Amino acid sequence: MTVLLLPEISWQQLTHPILTTSNTELWICQLKPPVPQIAGNKWLKLHSAISQRLPTQGILSLGGAFSNHLAALAAAGNHYGFPTIGLVRTDQLDSANPTLQQCSRNGMQLRGIDRVSFRQRDSAEFNHDLVNNYPNYLIVPEGGSNQQGAAGVSALPLAETPAGKATLLCCATASGGTLAGIIQRYPDIKVLGLAVVKDRSLVSRVKQCLPDNRPFVNWQLTQASSAYGKVTAADIAFCCELKPQITLEPVYTGKALHQLLDLLTSGQLASGQRIAFFHTGGLQGLAGQYYRKLISKAEYHLLAADGSEEPGARPAAG
Ligand SMILES: Cc1ncc(COP(=O)(O)O)c(C=O)c1O
Repeated sequence: MTVLLLPEISWQQLTHPILTTSNTELWICQLKPPVPQIAGNKWLKLHSAISQRLPTQGILSLGGAFSNHLAALAAAGNHYGFPTIGLVRTDQLDSANPTLQQCSRNGMQLRGIDRVSFRQRDSAEFNHDLVNNYPNYLIVPEGGSNQQGAAGVSALPLAETPAGKATLLCCATASGGTLAGIIQRYPDIKVLGLAVVKDRSLVSRVKQCLPDNRPFVNWQLTQASSAYGKVTAADIAFCCELKPQITLEPVYTGKALHQLLDLLTSGQLASGQRIAFFHTGGLQGLAGQYYRKLISKAEYHLLAADGSEEPGARPAAG
């Protein structure tokens, strides 16, 4: 069985005029995993799959063409020495895509899967076919979000800030497993998922990742400010503004933190709280955002400088 070291945790208190006016403490929790490319929430969500995998088994999972999850799984396979397959939502695999290049460098076999088939990924039939077609692989759902993945996240002591117990726990939410892990670890503390996808099934996705036998009522999800993967000028500017303090990217952590500060500004979130925000990684995605021209060269160089805990992806664009 593969033994995983528990990652080191670091805390940082952010400063921002909105935090001062709303008398709010905002603490960012980051992980320093021994394998830097298994960054943010990925280490926690993949932990049980990696350790429960049989010695002869590889791991297969699914994701978009710039998936942080597939990049992390490939790095884990490379580091721990097991085969990986990534089923990528795309009509054609793009050999210049920096995320897919990184996956390939880490030995992942990549297979394109069209969007219509990908939409069936939660169906019993789709998963039955995967099990039959890949008998030597443990199947991990998109984003690593299932009850096992969430249980891994529940190991994170997110409420224990250096200043004392947090009154509100937050994270960016896409497939729901990270939020579910935080909810189950802290049923008595308010938890807020900052949605970065417009997905009407997200609440039920989160519930599916929670243990069946216990009610959890102390959590909420926001509405995403824009569609998944849509990178707005305001979110990019926010990431650049905060760069002297912390490295963010505009698809997950930057978009979510920006939303959090907007909620404080509009008064939708009560002032005077001590908030803990889990930095879920995703910095490898910056190279892909630059490659797709979602961020400029100057923004890429500013945001990716230093601070990237996920080295390896390099943009192909000049
Ligand atoms: C960087 C980053 N942050 C947040 C999330 C959202 O986590 P979840 O899919 O568990 O909701 C993801 C997706 O896994 C991600 O890659």
